[in-house]
Amino acid sequence: MAVGSFACADLLTSAPGEGDTFDAPVEGLTAGERAAFVRGDAEFGRRFSPASGLGPVFNNVSCASCHSGDGRGRLENSLSRIGSAADGFLSELGGPQIQDRAIPGAQPEPVPAGVAVSVRLPPPVFGVGLIEAIPEATIVALADPDDANGDGISGRPNWVFAGAYVPASEPGAGTGLKLGRFGRKAQTSSLLEQTVEAYHQDIGITSEFRPTENRNPMSGLPIDALDAAPDPEVPTSTVQAVVHYIRALAPPAAGALTAARAEGEALFTSIGCALCHTPTLTTGAHKLSALAHKSVPLYSDMLLHDMGDALADNRPDGSATGREWRTTPLWGLRLMRQFLHGQAFLMHDGRARSVEEAILQHAGEGLSSRTAFAALSAAQRAALLDFVESR
Ligand code: HEC
Ligand code: HEC
Repeated sequence: MAVGSFACADLLTSAPGEGDTFDAPVEGLTAGERAAFVRGDAEFGRRFSPASGLGPVFNNVSCASCHSGDGRGRLENSLSRIGSAADGFLSELGGPQIQDRAIPGAQPEPVPAGVAVSVRLPPPVFGVGLIEAIPEATIVALADPDDANGDGISGRPNWVFAGAYVPASEPGAGTGLKLGRFGRKAQTSSLLEQTVEAYHQDIGITSEFRPTENRNPMSGLPIDALDAAPDPEVPTSTVQAVVHYIRALAPPAAGALTAARAEGEALFTSIGCALCHTPTLTTGAHKLSALAHKSVPLYSDMLLHDMGDALADNRPDGSATGREWRTTPLWGLRLMRQFLHGQAFLMHDGRARSVEEAILQHAGEGLSSRTAFAALSAAQRAALLDFVESR
């Protein structure tokens, strides 16, 4: 056997080292919590078909088919969102989310012309339980809505309403405004709601929380004739298993901090990246005790920032404007290409193909750190990129 092909096969089949995957649980789960994690993993990967309730309109057939390896998604797995609260989410045109696929006999929704369309790439699902466990007060304390300290950066929380169906025992539930944490604009306060809506909108799967099929409003076809699977198509226990699974997913370990990366880390702070990409936040109490009182290396303040005209989607969401985005956590970048056929898709719509491109697209509140990055020496830029790509 040729040495080259042997080495290649060897690489492909070797088991990843500890901390080298996106689908490992956090440490400290009980035996029961680990068993529930395994069940949730299977449900997260379960591919639906028309017989098991898929559609009538949908975007993809399973959670895992968009959230590749539980990490960042590929461009072809993006979603298009239209409308806002002010226009009823353009529901008559298929909003708030365009389902571009349909089961046989049904009609997919076309992207309507002449309205603002926000293309969203799947973010990673690892680490979301740790994000959920960060106390609201910790995140709110980082906000500086009027830029009182004059550093040109004014992070704002996204205050949103939770779905009325979210049980009171769930973090982020309840009446009144809640801190949004999930989604590209931090427009969702609860992981259960994120999961219920993903089933309903992304896969066309009803649950007891959302028992009525999502449909293409422009098609006069009766749903029952198309999707004959009885509703709800998944029981509450399945939704809870998936919520438990993503909640318990650990972020992958960061790479070793070499001398060059330590220099990059210092530059990350000195040129202002860390003003939004807060290196660590600490969790508070959580009903899953493995998530409680942990240091979380997420490199995000979980706040909204105006990122300028070119990145604006002109589509408000909750209290986020059409120019604001949640600071993307910088983790899993070290392994990202392994799950994306060697490619990288960064920023909310995947328009950046490398970390360097992503930095050079920062504008608005991110402009001064981008300008400072561009002014670094080539060796300094390399050290900064090496550091970020090792997270
Ligand atoms: C069609 C592709 C697609 C499918 C299928 C899908 N998602 Fe997502 N997911 C996305 C996109 C895109 C976003 C970002 C949405 C936004 O910002 O508006 C997202 C966001 C999320 C988030 C928030 C992560 C964060 O950092 O804020 C979680 C959690 C999540 N999805 C879980 C799930 C679960 C659980 C399922 C299955 C029940 C699922 N998704 C199915 C595309 C998908
Ligand atoms: C004003 C706040 C702010 C500053 C300062 C900032 N960023 Fe960002 N960063 C963001 C936001 C918000 C996004 C998401 C933008 C989007 O999706 O359109 C982002 C996205 C990114 C991404 C893409 C991540 C992904 O998974 O898609 C990288 C990489 C990144 N930033 C690195 C940096 C680096 C390095 C610096 C310093 C040179 C920096 N950022 C400075 C707010 C900031």
